[in-house]
Amino acid sequence: MKRLFSPMIMAVICLLEARCGSHNQAPGTGGDTATGHSGQPGTTDTVIVMTGINSKGIGRFRDVRLTHPLDEHKVAAGETIYRSKCFACHKLTDELLVGPGWKGVTDRRTPEWIMNWITNTKVMLDKDLAARADMAICLIRMPNQDLTDDQARDVLEFMRRNDGGK
Ligand code: HEC
Repeated sequence: MKRLFSPMIMAVICLLEARCGSHNQAPGTGGDTATGHSGQPGTTDTVIVMTGINSKGIGRFRDVRLTHPLDEHKVAAGETIYRSKCFACHKLTDELLVGPGWKGVTDRRTPEWIMNWITNTKVMLDKDLAARADMAICLIRMPNQDLTDDQARDVLEFMRRNDGGK
């Protein structure tokens, strides 16, 4: 299984490489982290789903409802969690620290993927292709942060604000 995926992982790494550097991505172009759909004969559907911008990742979140406008209470709670548990490894810009910067994360990942990632980190690192691509770029594995579902949702709201959400 692992061996089957590795050429695809390499392709994803090439596509995502620029993102982990200090490169500036114009707002709203998150879609360009690309899925590799076209011109990839022999890839299976599973691989396409797991690398695509629409991937929900692996975990119990299948349908996260977003509010418009943002829930200010959640934004504030999410920021507090960020400052105590995530700040050491994640910047709010697009710059890589230990992990990828969060700028644009809500464009390149679905809300479900983000919530599943935060609450099911280890499994996603083992199995989700997009997470494994990050892993190859970032030398340290993200430790499970033991957040509750509500706390993960708060952090997601804070990320939406960081990406300019109102
Ligand atoms: C010890 C460092 C560390 C801490 C602390 C940490 N992370 Fe991470 N995070 C990483 C690394 C490294 C990655 C890239 C995947 C990998 O290699 O594990 C990552 C990836 C991510 C991603 C995916 C980003 C993307 O662009 O694909 C999200 C979302 C994320 N972390 C959220 C969080 C949240 C929320 C917290 C705090 C509750 C947190 N992280 C705390 C190291 C960390």
